[in-house]
Amino acid sequence: MSELNLVLMGPPGAGKGTQAERLVDDFDLPYYATGDILRAAVKDGSELGREARGYMDRGELVPDDLICRVIMERIDSEEAADGFLLDGFPRTVAQALVLEEALDGRGRSLTAALLIYAPDDEVIRRLSGRRICVKNGHVYHVEFDPPKNEGVCDQDGSRLIQRDDDKPETIKKRLGVYHEQTEPLIEYYDDKGLLRRFDGTRAPDEVHGHIRATLATLKLEAEL
Ligand code: AP5
Ligand code: MG
Repeated sequence: MSELNLVLMGPPGAGKGTQAERLVDDFDLPYYATGDILRAAVKDGSELGREARGYMDRGELVPDDLICRVIMERIDSEEAADGFLLDGFPRTVAQALVLEEALDGRGRSLTAALLIYAPDDEVIRRLSGRRICVKNGHVYHVEFDPPKNEGVCDQDGSRLIQRDDDKPETIKKRLGVYHEQTEPLIEYYDDKGLLRRFDGTRAPDEVHGHIRATLATLKLEAEL
């Protein structure tokens, strides 16, 4: 079995979305970011969006059963039959168990859990200056990764905005939720031998180089 079934983990602002954009190009993997999926649902005013909005605005996690349904649909889609990259899921041990059981039942398994770590003060600096494009959610930072033309997405020309949950109080809340509910997953995946750690405080290209090298090795091993 040579598929790469990956999850990207790490605190808010560690650079999961930034790295995913690059890795998707490298490895041609379908990419499912629960935050992006939920924000699109909020924008469309769909039932999922209406259910999720309050939790997201408060910086809390949406209920496990809601998000598990969303992600299982994607994993069962044809495009994910040969591998996938998940960003922001699982985020609780309960979600990880659902994923593991689902993959198991389909004769599949996770290849690795990629942890990008960064300390709280760095995360706060990053999220305060983050901008995303209205059309596709492409990620920028006013200081660390500015677009060529101020306020305009390099990739699709759409307008850049601030995310609703990037207000200082909500950032603090999201960090608290991460430490309390998501951090236990690090040990969970470490115990299974699936965890790979990456220093997210390095420059984006450097972080990308490290992850890409690890994935290239994993892919080779999977093909043997
Ligand atoms: P989600 O959208 O997943 O947010 P998050 O986990 O808080 O992560 P972020 O997207 O904020 O950060 P990131 O790591 O992607 O960083 P980025 O690359 O943008 O989730 C949002 C909400 O949805 C949750 O709060 C919850 O309510 C709900 N939700 C989602 N999944 C759920 C689940 N499974 N269960 C329940 N609820 C769920 O980078 C950040 C900034 O830093 C950018 O400006 C970037 O340009 C800059 N930057 C990136 N890398 C570097 C670098 N190396 N150096 C300098 N700057 C950098
Ligand atoms: Mg993100």
